Amino acid sequence: MAMSVVGPFFGILRLLTCSVLLLPVVVKASDADLPIMPFEEGYTHLFGDDNLVIHRDGKTVHLTLDESTGSGFVSQDLYLHGFFSASIKLPADYTAGVVVAFYMSNGDTYERNHDEIDFEFLGNIRGKDWRIQTNIYGNGSTSAGREERYSLWFDPAEDFHQYSILWTDSQIIFYVDNVPIREVKRTEAMGGDFPSKPMSLYVTIWDGSDWATNGGKYRVNYKYAPYVAEFSGLVLHGCTVDPIERLSRCDQDVSFRLIPTGISSKQRNQMGGIRKKHMTYSYCYDQARYKVPPPECVMSPKEAEHLRVFDPVTFGGSRRPRSSRHHRARASRVDAATSM
Ligand SMILES: *[C@@H]1O[C@H](CO)[C@@H](O)[C@H](O)[C@H]1NC(C)=O
Repeated sequence: MAMSVVGPFFGILRLLTCSVLLLPVVVKASDADLPIMPFEEGYTHLFGDDNLVIHRDGKTVHLTLDESTGSGFVSQDLYLHGFFSASIKLPADYTAGVVVAFYMSNGDTYERNHDEIDFEFLGNIRGKDWRIQTNIYGNGSTSAGREERYSLWFDPAEDFHQYSILWTDSQIIFYVDNVPIREVKRTEAMGGDFPSKPMSLYVTIWDGSDWATNGGKYRVNYKYAPYVAEFSGLVLHGCTVDPIERLSRCDQDVSFRLIPTGISSKQRNQMGGIRKKHMTYSYCYDQARYKVPPPECVMSPKEAEHLRVFDPVTFGGSRRPRSSRHHRARASRVDAATSM
């Protein structure tokens, strides 16, 4: 931080700003405080050369997308289950085509049958808000996308907000500021589609021009670059797995018990409210894509009604086929953000 001579007033202002911006060294996960992992201890640089910058606190990371490259980092360890969290501030202004992703994957190890749990942030044209997409794949189930998309109830480019993934052997919960927005309960019928092999945590920013905004209609415009996403409060709280012996070191880790075990009834009410107000897409209700909703889907009349009003073409239940099923399935990722 470059310092110049400042009067007392600006000194106080600066002090205030700092105390507001500095995040606590623990992150709240429900009622438990979880330790923040310094970058050098928990992560390694994945790509993007100088477009990854670690701050002097060792815990805040900037990822930049410009004409030359995006950037990203990955956890040093593989994890089988745990609680994974980051406070993220997204780039502001014109961000069409820009994708910021906070996700778990083992695609490097399992090319044909990988698992994945995704938080994806899809940029937008000026004046339109960022959207979040969540998705999971299990054992290579890439032909069966399980995407959901939501609008946000705040501007994610104005401040840091906490995004978290809880992954156990029976459920996956996505949280925004500790409020659950999606719960996937494992059912027997899901079989291998439920992520169940050790994964690494990835954080990336990249050019998603071909699909991120209106299915590729609005591409990244480098006139507005660099696009900078900020990350802090990085929590890796799970069972590390030895990649050779494939043993999970979880039982010894007493603090693992600190992670939330499920959704309280208060949180369930909050989740219901958010979903019926802010969900803009859910594969469970997309009858053109899935004649029968996949087995883990728990349908809600309120969500169905909200989606029908929001997007009558996709969720109106009209029998008129809009496009071949084959096309829909193949285009599931490409199609990611057609409704703005
Ligand atoms: C996962 O995929 C592999 C390879 O396709 C297969 O052999 C295995 O049975 C699958 N596991 C489950 C649980 O479906």
